[in-house]
Amino acid sequence: MNHTLSVAPMLDWTDKHCRYLHRLISADAVLYSEMITTPAILQGDTQKYIGYNQQEHPVVLQLGGSHATELAKSCVIAQEYGYDEVNLNVGCPSDRVQKGRFGACLMNEPQLVVECMNSMTQAVDIPITIKCRIGVDDNDSFENLQSFIEQLAQAGVKTIVIHARKALLKGLSPKQNRSIPALNYDYVYKIKALFPELTIVINGGINTIEDAQQHLQHVDGVMLGRAIWNNPWLLHDLQNEIITTSSNTRDQVLHKYMKYCQNQMQKGVKLHWLLPPILNLYHGIAGNKKWKSYLVTQAPKRDKDIDVFDEAREFIEL
Ligand SMILES: Cc1cc2nc3c(=O)[nH]c(=O)nc-3n(C[C@H](O)[C@H](O)[C@H](O)COP(=O)(O)O)c2cc1C
Repeated sequence: MNHTLSVAPMLDWTDKHCRYLHRLISADAVLYSEMITTPAILQGDTQKYIGYNQQEHPVVLQLGGSHATELAKSCVIAQEYGYDEVNLNVGCPSDRVQKGRFGACLMNEPQLVVECMNSMTQAVDIPITIKCRIGVDDNDSFENLQSFIEQLAQAGVKTIVIHARKALLKGLSPKQNRSIPALNYDYVYKIKALFPELTIVINGGINTIEDAQQHLQHVDGVMLGRAIWNNPWLLHDLQNEIITTSSNTRDQVLHKYMKYCQNQMQKGVKLHWLLPPILNLYHGIAGNKKWKSYLVTQAPKRDKDIDVFDEAREFIEL
């Protein structure tokens, strides 16, 4: 898979509706699911947690877990569902995740990660990748990161997404853990230089096309999260600049997403659940604030009425 441009996994944000919208904006970006835990897949309503739209490909299922057999079983289900890749989360620092002994705290247990990756790789044919931090707590030296990556490479992992800041497992909320620890891109660049055969995707604090272009001089791919949520059209600009020209205009994206919403509403999905990903579509354009406030006030009251989008669009001066 070509990992040049990816949209980061974001819990409660990058659900299937959001990914559908992102695919309308960019034909080629790799889209990641939110992190889904293995119990949710194995014991929960699997379709609800990992069902997706065929248009989303290439799409990656991100798993949270550290039980090798459960991860392997989840990979088999992911492959049956047609996911293009499975990614293991070794970056989430939340208390709940730490209690479950997965996410970022796994950076302290490389052996267990290798065991999980081996078990997952052996279970399926699709690629198994990993998303990690550059360190956790005092385990933050370059040598430790290098050793972690080396063990993954020896286990046959070929693609590694690295969020270029460490996580602090005590005292910071997940949100603070995405901004307070300093970014250290050099660690990621050095990893690519030492392991040229690996596909290294850099993540964290990438906000502009220039940022992305700069990183791509050192690594194979860029992954953006919050910048795309706050301004989905940045994904279009990135697609144009670093991959190839994309065709849909903002209004075409809106109209195609409206069709998708109608389809979803026929299946019982409420209009206001479909709103969050598209609220920032006109970011930076005059009338954007009014568009957003019209949608958030009207949609919950008129949950089956697709016309609210056209009415809100009237405010946009484009
Ligand atoms: C709301 C939110 C939810 C997130 N959920 C996940 C997740 O489920 N899995 C994961 O690996 N990272 C998650 N992250 C972290 C992002 O994938 C990314 O690593 C981080 O936001 C840094 O990239 P950015 O600066 O481009 O946003 C989340 C981030 C946000 C803002």
